[in-house]
Amino acid sequence: MILAPSILTVKEEERNSVLEELIGLGIIYLHLDIMDGKFVPNTTPGVSMLKKINKFDFVFDTHLMVEDPINYIDKFYKAGSDIITFHYEAVDNVQQVINKILSLNIKCGISIKPNTDPKVLLPYLKDLDQVLIMSVEPGFGGQKFMDNALDKIKYLDNLRNNNDEYHYLIEVDGGVNLSNVSKIREAGANVVVMGTALINSSDKASVIKEVDNLWE
Ligand code: DX5
Ligand code: ZN
Repeated sequence: MILAPSILTVKEEERNSVLEELIGLGIIYLHLDIMDGKFVPNTTPGVSMLKKINKFDFVFDTHLMVEDPINYIDKFYKAGSDIITFHYEAVDNVQQVINKILSLNIKCGISIKPNTDPKVLLPYLKDLDQVLIMSVEPGFGGQKFMDNALDKIKYLDNLRNNNDEYHYLIEVDGGVNLSNVSKIREAGANVVVMGTALINSSDKASVIKEVDNLWE
């Protein structure tokens, strides 16, 4: 079970020291939020940032909040992405994007926004390594967790338990903190993204430890 920090709100000048600290605390997954100012009303550095931090030994879990994600895949693959997750809502031909990612021998995820029904993913689930349930509207860190994510997690967990073809992990992103992480875990999530609740904490070690204890 995995805690994936999001460094969306970390300033560039602090990035390396935060990443060193996270490595020291045993973090393996790093969640990278990539925004184009079109699919979401915010922008972030893109592949240039990944190139700078690729020297760190993380699994780079890349969350593309962009229109036409197919145009980004080769660049992120070359820069070191281990998992590329795109938004269902951002593409017309979902299968084409899945095939492109899988052809590179990296892991493929699809994300759905809070108002998207997880049933839309049914035709694709057998191909996915990860399903990313957004528990806030994508675009910004520090928002409040939306409880409707819990039913989606349970729905996907139940499908997975009843179908040998499915191997996806369920990842949850947005507003995750120490008060709600246990109910997210109980619903069936495997990966939780934590931005502000971890990064803004003065005691990251104890936040990580508390989350780790839940998995045991
Ligand atoms: C929001 C991003 C999240 C965000 C999470 O669009 O996808 O990954 O950084 O931050 P918190 O945990 O603060 O909601
Ligand atoms: Zn994210």
